[in-house]
Amino acid sequence: MSDTANPELGKEIVRRRTFAIISHPDAGKTTLTERILRAGGAIQLAGNVRAKGERRRTRSDWMAIERDRGISVVSSVMTFDYGGCVFNLLDTPGHEDFSEDTYRTLTAVDSAVMVIDAAKGIEDRTRKLFEICRLRDIPIVTFINKMDREAQDPFALLDEIASSLALDTCPATWPVGRAATFVGTYDLLNGKLNTLTPLAESDERLTQMREELELAEAALPEFDRESFDAGHLTPVFFGSAIKEIGVTDLLDALVAFGPSPRAQAAENRTVTADEPGMTALVFKIQANMDPNHRDRIAFARICSGRLTRGMKLRHTRTGKSFAVHTPQFFFAQDRHLAEEAFAGDVVGIPNHGTLRIGDTLTEGEDIRFTGVPHFAPEILRRVRLDDAMKAKKLKQALVQLAEEGVVQLFRPQDGAPPIVGVVGTLQLDVLQARLRAEYGVGIGFDSTPFSLARWITGPRDKIEAFTASNRSAMADDLDDDPVFLATSNFMMRRTEEQNPDIRFHDIKQIGIEIG
Ligand code: G4P
Repeated sequence: MSDTANPELGKEIVRRRTFAIISHPDAGKTTLTERILRAGGAIQLAGNVRAKGERRRTRSDWMAIERDRGISVVSSVMTFDYGGCVFNLLDTPGHEDFSEDTYRTLTAVDSAVMVIDAAKGIEDRTRKLFEICRLRDIPIVTFINKMDREAQDPFALLDEIASSLALDTCPATWPVGRAATFVGTYDLLNGKLNTLTPLAESDERLTQMREELELAEAALPEFDRESFDAGHLTPVFFGSAIKEIGVTDLLDALVAFGPSPRAQAAENRTVTADEPGMTALVFKIQANMDPNHRDRIAFARICSGRLTRGMKLRHTRTGKSFAVHTPQFFFAQDRHLAEEAFAGDVVGIPNHGTLRIGDTLTEGEDIRFTGVPHFAPEILRRVRLDDAMKAKKLKQALVQLAEEGVVQLFRPQDGAPPIVGVVGTLQLDVLQARLRAEYGVGIGFDSTPFSLARWITGPRDKIEAFTASNRSAMADDLDDDPVFLATSNFMMRRTEEQNPDIRFHDIKQIGIEIG
């Protein structure tokens, strides 16, 4: 806590727990979410969350994505109280492609719960999401789910996490019984037995547990708060979401040691959560939540202080003032007006396109948060319009969807039709379907000669000279920043060698340069 902190404000902030659940499909994320919400008193939500799980089965067709989105949009943030804390659970997008959307959501959390299927261990998508968390050293709590089924041995699971993710593990609970006889957990951190039914002292499940614990205590590290906070050690919980075993162990642990809102790096300084001045960072935009109104919701994480309804803020990218009249809290299917929100909370701010991903809002200070990057796309396509009459509409729609982060948009400087860039092909399907559904514009995609895009920086005169001699390979991105398009890795390397004064970036980060 900084010296300037107001104690009331500090009290609100330290009880915030903002987290996401990461997992491979089918490991039980939906079921665990539902049980967590139930434990947090939001029982009525269970049905809605379930519906999402069922829809997932036909995820490959767009309608399903759209419906899925319908649900996940409103439940992008789920806020509930538990154990004296205010939890904000941020939903990571359901689709399997790596997407910037997922990355951005993970930039807005203070910790993540990694759900692992006890029979399958670490799977692809878990590993990918874990790596994204690691980039920012996000503290990770592990929940090994489905212990009520045939599972791998707990020692083997702990070992697999440690070796395959290069992450220290320490058991926080230990399973009592296995598969059909799995009945509860022993809480190593508090020395408490939690079983669904009372067990006799002589129960063989207890005997087995004691023997295993002896081994575990001798062989495995103890929980170390510092190491956890640094993202180097994960406490591991065993459970069964479906049987509601281990769910409160997990929540109690997040209350006890889940990180409260962290400091956020800005261009010139780092902002701590308990500073009295309100600051917020927009990490996600969702357009057309209501197809009848072209409204857009910017999801902003409050990074410091307290936001109150009607507050007049400074939008630091444009320097203009921005009044927040209708900030919203999300509660699964419901949205309701937020009268106040504190650092760690996520609010939805309706706007007509003023707010963009990466934008900072403050009470007046001119700062810009860093850490919400754009990644160079791996696939570049030219957009082909089915009906030439709709060119103007397409242009507008592409800008809106690019602002939302669906695709990246590059406008070639030689006036050629726009090029869209994506990291995964699913994004192209989403673009095509949303253009049709929300804007009535039919499109196809043509290949381009380009396969790489790089943002360029350097001395102004060098950039100008470079641009002039490479006009047909230059484009502007949504922020009018120059982008060089290369036809191959070979050409990229050659261009770099020939232009030592220019830097080529595959990540664009607001405020700071990354090579
Ligand atoms: P996901 O969001 O990570 O994709 O997983 P989800 O919760 O949808 O769970 C995937 C499947 O695993 C579901 O079964 C769910 O019921 C089951 N499951 C989740 N947690 C547990 C658990 O602790 N133990 C057991 N045994 N199963 C669990 P399904 O047959 O695909 O769906 P449903 O018919 O149950 O709806």
